[in-house]
Amino acid sequence: MEARGTSGISMKSLERVVSDKALKLGNSFPCQICVVGFLCGICLTSLFLAALTSIGTFELAAFSFSSFSPPCNSTSQIINIDRKLKWKNKAETEEENDDDQVNLLVSAWDNILLNNEDYFKKLGISKSDVPNAPHLENCEERTRARERLDTRISNHTFPSWINGGDEDNYPLTRSVQREIWYHQHPLDCEDKSLKFLVADWETLPGFGIGAQIAGMTGLLAIAINENRVLVSNYYNRADHDGCKGSARGSWSCYFLPETSKECRKRAFEVMKKREAWERGTVTGKQNYSTKEIWSGHIPKRWGKPWSYMRPTTEINGSLLTSHRKMDRRWWRAQAVRYLMRFQTEYTCGLVNVARHSAFGKEAAEIVLSAGGWRKKKKRSEIEESVWSSHKPWIPRPMLSVHVRMGDKACEMRVAALEEYMRLADRIRERFPELNRIWLSTEMKEVVDRSKEYGQWRFYYTEVARQVGNNSMAEYEASLGREMSTNYPLVNFLMASEADFFVGALGSTWCFLIDGMRNTGGKVMSGFLSVNKDRFWRSGVKSVPVWNQFRFEFSGAQI
Ligand SMILES: *[C@@H]1O[C@H](CO)[C@@H](O)[C@H](O)[C@H]1NC(C)=O
Ligand SMILES: *[C@@H]1O[C@H](CO)[C@@H](O)[C@H](O)[C@H]1NC(C)=O
Ligand SMILES: *[C@@H]1O[C@H](CO)[C@@H](O)[C@H](O)[C@H]1NC(C)=O
Ligand SMILES: *[C@@H]1O[C@H](CO)[C@@H](O)[C@H](O)[C@H]1NC(C)=O
Ligand SMILES: *[C@@H]1O[C@H](CO)[C@@H](O)[C@H](O)[C@H]1NC(C)=O
Repeated sequence: MEARGTSGISMKSLERVVSDKALKLGNSFPCQICVVGFLCGICLTSLFLAALTSIGTFELAAFSFSSFSPPCNSTSQIINIDRKLKWKNKAETEEENDDDQVNLLVSAWDNILLNNEDYFKKLGISKSDVPNAPHLENCEERTRARERLDTRISNHTFPSWINGGDEDNYPLTRSVQREIWYHQHPLDCEDKSLKFLVADWETLPGFGIGAQIAGMTGLLAIAINENRVLVSNYYNRADHDGCKGSARGSWSCYFLPETSKECRKRAFEVMKKREAWERGTVTGKQNYSTKEIWSGHIPKRWGKPWSYMRPTTEINGSLLTSHRKMDRRWWRAQAVRYLMRFQTEYTCGLVNVARHSAFGKEAAEIVLSAGGWRKKKKRSEIEESVWSSHKPWIPRPMLSVHVRMGDKACEMRVAALEEYMRLADRIRERFPELNRIWLSTEMKEVVDRSKEYGQWRFYYTEVARQVGNNSMAEYEASLGREMSTNYPLVNFLMASEADFFVGALGSTWCFLIDGMRNTGGKVMSGFLSVNKDRFWRSGVKSVPVWNQFRFEFSGAQI
């Protein structure tokens, strides 16, 4: 605590410091409570107040009690409380009390996330009195900012959704993102020469969430090649109660939509006219073959940036230097990044909850030990305009491991957790500070077995997991639509943000995560894969690895 650092200060200045501090405290939330509620004998109504106040009072108590004129009515009362709560000195009881405080702060944050006004009313405090949570985003505010950034009138330079320097991303990422955005947001949606491609997301039951996204990246390529604005329509995974109003059944429930409201509206009008179809002003998925969608031409207007991508993927101890479908790898990365460029308030909330349940306690410990939480929260200009766009805190460095074992019978070569952990250890040899793993898996067995790796600290979301070997589709059905979409999506976003990633490139899902990372400033963290897809070429003798679509959608030629 702060008292520790003041030993060298003379008594006089110490007194001044303490009085100033106490005076300030007197005006702020904890000491008002201390004065009005606690000290003056009014019954203490809640543990929360007591615990959060305790730091304030303790800090005062830790100084000399008699040496300053009390800002609160009586110093002896402070001592009384001190005695009542048996806080003789900090060292003795540090852990126990800290734990209470941490738990209470975590529960206050819980209730902020739940938007539980009653909780705060009962305690008679305002939400704004609760210390800021460094690991949570103010989703409402952030979404407003993102929506502003996603409109043409704003003055910022596109694309603000790319992190890192050019060398930390796939070649041309920034300019490609900007151009896709402009392509998808024409100035005048009423322009008669505009053409559209309107398509639903794949809805066949066997389609994984990753395959659906991969399908849309193919349609985006077609749209750009044919100079059409891509308008995505029904998204079955968003057809649940979590997605309200017009967001129901739409990608825009999770991410800002791929095109502007005006163009979307216009596309739906145009769609109703038969001539528009005949003239080719609008096309739909039925106008393209499966092959065109799944393995059509990558837009050529940017040349061949994939030809000079530096190899950063390691499989079985060697860097992979070539891939027959490097162009597709590059394009899917660009397209998935564009589609997921900005989270909606809903998605932001989901990730908040995940972050809070995984890191809430650590965040509370940090906040309480930093001590500054008592200060009246006042937004300064630098916070408003400089720090506001910072990402929420997560403990770093973090390694994300995606272990996919579902659909054992027909899945690509599945790697056991041990293989992933061997790669994790390999990264740690180079980066010894790394000891945390964000584990995403649908298999209960994997979570259970992670307990054998005591030298790592694992985080994962709480969700019912797959036991035994029912199919992925059955498992998803058992979770329900909302859960079976939200849970993998949150893991996807966490994996994109992690410092390192270990996965199976042979799975579409990891392929897309890899794409997000390679357009999100993470190229240089490298990628260790437990397997490869069948287009990889390297010195390694190839093992038959199947792309998961082959099973999910047997008609597709990937
Ligand atoms: C201190 O106590 C006196 C009477 O006991 C009261 O009038 C005064 O308002 C109190 N001061 C504070 C800061 O609560
Ligand atoms: C854009 O910037 C110009 C000058 O820098 C300013 O006058 C204008 O109001 C800004 N527009 C918006 C929408 O912020
Ligand atoms: C697209 O398909 C519709 C029928 O579904 C057809 O009328 C139209 O001519 C096709 N457009 C093109 C450009 O092939
Ligand atoms: C990995 O490399 C080792 C030699 O470095 C080789 O013996 C082994 O067969 C390789 N495994 C695979 C799956 O290619
Ligand atoms: C998994 O499937 C295999 C064959 O497909 C079967 O022999 C085995 O009993 C199944 N295991 C469980 C736990 O259902």
